Amino acid sequence: MKFFVDTADVAAIKELNDLGMVDGVTTNPSLILKSGRDILEVTKEICDMVAGPVSAEVVATEAKDMIAEGLKLVKIASNIAIKVPLTWAGLTACKAFASEGHMVNVTLCFSAAQAILAAKAGASFISPFIGRLDDINLDGVQLIEDIRTIYDNYGFKTEILAASIRSVNHITDVARIGADVITAPPSVIKAMANHPLTDKGLEQFLKDWAKTGQSIV
Ligand code: E4P
Repeated sequence: MKFFVDTADVAAIKELNDLGMVDGVTTNPSLILKSGRDILEVTKEICDMVAGPVSAEVVATEAKDMIAEGLKLVKIASNIAIKVPLTWAGLTACKAFASEGHMVNVTLCFSAAQAILAAKAGASFISPFIGRLDDINLDGVQLIEDIRTIYDNYGFKTEILAASIRSVNHITDVARIGADVITAPPSVIKAMANHPLTDKGLEQFLKDWAKTGQSIV
C-alpha cells in the first residue's frame, strides 16, 4: 500500500519523507490556501523533495481551460499528476492528458459509476472521498470495496487512491479491502503509531528499568 500525504505543508511532508513514509503527495485548492504559499512555488518545492507523484489540481471548469492549466502544472516537474474533478469536463481533460502520457488523478469521486468513467478516461488514480461520504451518513469504506470489485472484474489499471481520510480506522479498513494508495493528513498518519497499551507497557518497563540501577550507554 502506498502512502500519499494530503497537505501542502512542506515541513510536515519533510518530516514523514525523511522516515521513508511518503510515496507521493496530494494537494487541492483548500490545502494551497491553508499553506499560504504560491501554488507553483510550493508545488515545485514538494516535487523536488518527493520522488513519487505530486497531485496539483486545476481550478477551471471548462475542459479547454483545464487542459491549459494542466499543461502549465506539468511543466513544474516530471512527477506531477494533474488533478481534475469528476465532471464531464474533467473526464474530457483526463482523456486528453492521459493520451499525452501525463499522470491524472480524478478527484471528488463519490460513486462507483463515476469511478468507472474515470478508468475509461485513462486516469492513473481515482480519488473516492470516504470521509465526506461518512459526513452525510453514507458509507465511504463501502465505496472503496465496490470500486475494488469493479476494477478487478474488468482489469482496470487505474489505482484506487482512498482520499478524505479522517481516522486510523479508515486507513486499516481500506487496506483490508485492497486500496492501492491512501492519502491522509500528516496527523492521521502519525496517529497510526499510537496505542494506549504501548504507552502503558513502556511506562512499566521504564519504571522497572529505573529500579535496576543500570544504564545501557
Ligand atoms: C484528496 O486528494 C483531497 O485532497 C482530500 O483527501 C480531501 O479531504 P477532506 O475531505 O478532508 O478535505
